[in-house]
Amino acid sequence: MEVIILPDSKAASRLAAGMIADLIRKKSNCVLGLATGSTPLGIYRELVSMHNMEGLDFSEVTSFNLDEYVGLSPEHHASYHRFMQENLFNHINMPKDHVHIPDGLATDIPSYCQSYEEAIYQAGGIDLQLLGIGTDGHLGFNEPTSSLTSRTRIKTLDRQTILDNQRFFQPGESVPSHVITMGIGTILDAKTCLLIAFGESKAEAVAGMVEGPVAAILPASALQLHQKAIIILDEAAASKLAKREYYQWVYDHKPDWQKVGQS
Ligand code: F6R
Repeated sequence: MEVIILPDSKAASRLAAGMIADLIRKKSNCVLGLATGSTPLGIYRELVSMHNMEGLDFSEVTSFNLDEYVGLSPEHHASYHRFMQENLFNHINMPKDHVHIPDGLATDIPSYCQSYEEAIYQAGGIDLQLLGIGTDGHLGFNEPTSSLTSRTRIKTLDRQTILDNQRFFQPGESVPSHVITMGIGTILDAKTCLLIAFGESKAEAVAGMVEGPVAAILPASALQLHQKAIIILDEAAASKLAKREYYQWVYDHKPDWQKVGQS
């Protein structure tokens, strides 16, 4: 695991966007795994700005989103389809048929999930998977005790996640209890995993993910098993890491040839 601690979420988002842009420039037909929620918003803003100002070209890029709520149509204001359109896809030149987001209205969910896995495989696998982390340590919507080898499937949200995500829904509207999510095994198959976390509310989960035991009770800890997991944090999210000075020292002494997206 590489842990990078930056002063604030703006610097962190800029670095993460730089890493994604570097990949797109090197491999124009790369496959991105994308996430929703508050954390990636700054990254998507940076990518849109790079598209507008520097001509960053998404025309050959393919994407697969991590998850979607069961029962929400793509038009629903809180659906992840809508989130992705409004925050990224409406502003870049990725062809519509290159975009994949789990279908919350799928009728035969097990066979739909199998076809989502097959589509990832057919696309050549995910080159870079962008991730956030839940306050309960979830990865995608793989809640505590999810199998660490799980594949795309239906999951029931933890009460904590329902409370955390209520902010995306209107007053009186309930957060769906079920989701379709890539599994932890699906996520670990990505060539690079790039997890971003901001704010004190994530500090405990981040400490468990990086320095705790690998355990299904904290699904994000499975990233310790990944060959190339990069964790980018702001100071607050890093505040409970015992070895934070070491991570800072490693980052400050990185050889130039290892620096990606840091120009
Ligand atoms: C979103 C996802 C979730 C979020 C996590 C953090 O597609 O899979 O794991 O990354 O819940 O959400 P925010 O960024 O809103 O704190």
